[in-house]
Amino acid sequence: MTNLEIELFSCRTDNFGVLIHDPESGATASIDAPEEQPILDALKRRGWTLTHILTTHHHQDHVEANLALKARFEATIIGPENEAAKIPGLDMTIGDGGDFEFAGHKVHVYETPGHTAGHICFHFPDDKLLFSADTLFALGCGRLFEGTPAQMWTSLTKLMALPDDTTVYFGHEYTLSNARFAVTVDPDNAALKSRAAEIEALRAQDGFTAPTTLGLEKRTNPFLRAQDAGIRAHLGMESATDAEVFAEIRKRKDNF
Ligand SMILES: [Fe+2]
Repeated sequence: MTNLEIELFSCRTDNFGVLIHDPESGATASIDAPEEQPILDALKRRGWTLTHILTTHHHQDHVEANLALKARFEATIIGPENEAAKIPGLDMTIGDGGDFEFAGHKVHVYETPGHTAGHICFHFPDDKLLFSADTLFALGCGRLFEGTPAQMWTSLTKLMALPDDTTVYFGHEYTLSNARFAVTVDPDNAALKSRAAEIEALRAQDGFTAPTTLGLEKRTNPFLRAQDAGIRAHLGMESATDAEVFAEIRKRKDNF
């Protein structure tokens, strides 16, 4: 098990803020920097000092506080090499398959184009943690602003190869809407139905649906289930490729 401590909080309207803290060294990383004040509040609540920002992609709601936090803490900003020009304050770039260490913890980077062209996800293999930002959500995936469905399917396939007991933190609290959509394309999935009911109850009390696990997503997230016979039959796509089934599910969600 990981000895990393994690603080999860909301930023802006529906972004998640995530801080990860190594108690031995005192190092603290923010996954993205959606908004300065909630991050400062979270640091203060835990008594932590920011040392790193791990940037997943260039969208404003993920990088807005980069420069302010860097000025305040001299934090080191690590982000995607293929979006380097669009990310304020970058100190180090990293691409697909790259490795680095955060306070002695191994971090492996997956480039997952689709939502943006150079989006990266951070995987801590020894800690069984994945920070998937706007590539993989609970019961959903990111909108395809800069990539094709086939690219996003390939990206999600990379993440699906990780162990089922990987804990996944993601970028937005979109889970209720994702759940209501998911049951329309995978209506006979009992695990999905019971999860959707849990999410309705949790969101009625403003509870966070993060984190999730990769195993739970593989069983219930339609965007990871393009190969599923029940979904294919429901969509009338029994002989389509996985990428085609994924594209149809993505299109339906865009119009949901
Ligand atoms: Fe985004």
